[in-house]
Amino acid sequence: MSARINIAIDGFSSCGKSTLAKQLARHLGYTYIDSGAMYRAVALYVLQEGLVKDGKLMKDALLDRLDDIHIRFAHDPDTGRSVTLLNGRNVEKEIRGMDVSRHVTLVSPVPEVRAKLVKLQQALGEEKGVVMDGRDIGTVVFPQAAVKLYMTARPEVRARRRYDELKSKGVEVDYASVLDNIERRDEDDTKRAADPLIKAPTAVEIDNSDISQEEQFRLALAVVERVLGKEVASR
Ligand code: DC
Repeated sequence: MSARINIAIDGFSSCGKSTLAKQLARHLGYTYIDSGAMYRAVALYVLQEGLVKDGKLMKDALLDRLDDIHIRFAHDPDTGRSVTLLNGRNVEKEIRGMDVSRHVTLVSPVPEVRAKLVKLQQALGEEKGVVMDGRDIGTVVFPQAAVKLYMTARPEVRARRRYDELKSKGVEVDYASVLDNIERRDEDDTKRAADPLIKAPTAVEIDNSDISQEEQFRLALAVVERVLGKEVASR
């Protein structure tokens, strides 16, 4: 049996990280973990608990309640997919909506939130065999990951894909606000002080603006197989 490794996939929002991560996980028999879903679940929590006033996060109130926020993933037997649970409730649909997308960068820069979620993510990766996507997976969560991929695509391409995805799920949106949200989150993700999105020195960059999902998968798999070959040889 080949060695099991962790695969870290980082990149801007809506650049196909989860599609690639799921393809790799399925192919390798690994577990896919969506770290962004955890930040989205915290954003949903603060919205539901009324901890956002006039567009501002009531940070102290959130810190007081941090231990009351329990996030897990579970298998949904109806769809065969993984779903995000916030305090035991399936919030998969709600965390994908525009309201959460608009507010998630209120909570993602908070160091205490990051510390809590990073700890959870590291525990999930302890046994290896995990493909995790996010912004700081190769730099902070799994700095020792055997494979690190850094994905990019032009903002307009990403906005079009996200718009099509939301529409196909029946979410009412307009393209301009999706593009605006993506550009604002790029800015927030790269400029924040705590664990900003940066390319890890050993990460392999994949720009998928002009390549198909199949090409992207082949490129990524070649990287993984090269590393797995080396891991097996060194055992
Ligand atoms: O990947 P996503 O768009 O679902 O992520 C939602 C937000 O969470 C995004 O604006 C950045 C933040 N995030 C983060 O700060 N660190 C991660 N590891 C994953 C997501």
